[in-house]
Amino acid sequence: MKRIGVLTSGGDAPGMNAAVRAVVRKAIYHEIEVMGVHNGYQGLIDGKIEKLDLGSVGDIIQRGGTKLHSARCPEFITEAGQQKAIDQMKKHDIEALIVVGGDGSYRGAMALTKKGFPCIGVPGTIDNDIPGTDYTIGFDTALNTVIEAIDKIRDTATSHERTFIIEVMGRNAGDLALWAGLAGGAETIVIPEVAFDIEDILFRLRSGHERGKKHSIIIVAEGVMSANAFADLLKEYGNIETRVSVLGHIQRGGSPSARDRVLASLFGARAVEVLMEGNGGLAIGMRNHEVVDYSMTEAFEGKRSTDLSMYKLSKELAI
Ligand code: ADP
Ligand code: F6P
Repeated sequence: MKRIGVLTSGGDAPGMNAAVRAVVRKAIYHEIEVMGVHNGYQGLIDGKIEKLDLGSVGDIIQRGGTKLHSARCPEFITEAGQQKAIDQMKKHDIEALIVVGGDGSYRGAMALTKKGFPCIGVPGTIDNDIPGTDYTIGFDTALNTVIEAIDKIRDTATSHERTFIIEVMGRNAGDLALWAGLAGGAETIVIPEVAFDIEDILFRLRSGHERGKKHSIIIVAEGVMSANAFADLLKEYGNIETRVSVLGHIQRGGSPSARDRVLASLFGARAVEVLMEGNGGLAIGMRNHEVVDYSMTEAFEGKRSTDLSMYKLSKELAI
């Protein structure tokens, strides 16, 4: 193999730059050229492709966002869009593609692989929602951003003896909310993986208050409902006044944590190795602290399990 491509796609995630850097440096180390595709699949269709050398990925390991930019590209879901992408890659002598993104991006990568164009998926999303890997690039950084926010909100919640509802991203997955809730000492965590009982939540809020708790923090995953809708529920069923904080896209930014940089470096390098071994249609992941590769189909068709023992523990610790 002489030349490969790399792109970042879907929602950006801190650590994507570190992954691209690892792909470029690892490939060049093995005398393989790397072409960077800008703006995800849209850039592939439009031919926004340039050669990346060792220097072009210098000084990015610590940067959030993605230097290659990202996009959501409806045209790529069509056969015609995929064919345009393949034509562009042929034109640029690209023999294989590494896609850093979430499960939607993996579906795109698999579509190309099925058309005879080998792709490898590297999990880059703050949602930590890709089956087959314990962690995705960006999750740890986003988690730390959420924790920082919770700590700050806790200060004002205590001063005013208030109940706060904090809405956390994650699309349909509750990992970010669950981990943030446990690490942030939240009284209540509401995630899509566990049906919530409003009476139980009200009971816990009241009993906390009765034993002198000065504030309450409730973390709601966006996949369940908006924090505002949840505030309405508490008002309607318990006449409880709350304040709402929607963290939003702040969760996607910032310099990647050390953990995300390491994960991204390991994953990016492994993706190149897997291509060198002659494979396509695989996803890279981490299982029990080991880097693994597995069928990309499993990564978007498999079911991801959330650690419900953490959910149970969070309830026990927040009595
Ligand atoms: P993420 O990769 O973070 O899950 P999206 O779900 O938005 O983000 O997917 C990113 C891009 O991947 C989409 O804009 C589209 O171009 C491509 N994609 C998503 N689903 C498919 C599919 N079923 N077939 C082909 N391409 C897809
Ligand atoms: O997949 C990452 C993510 O940030 C989700 O947590 C969130 O639901 C979604 O992307 C937001 O997408 P957008 O940036 O298009 O608003």
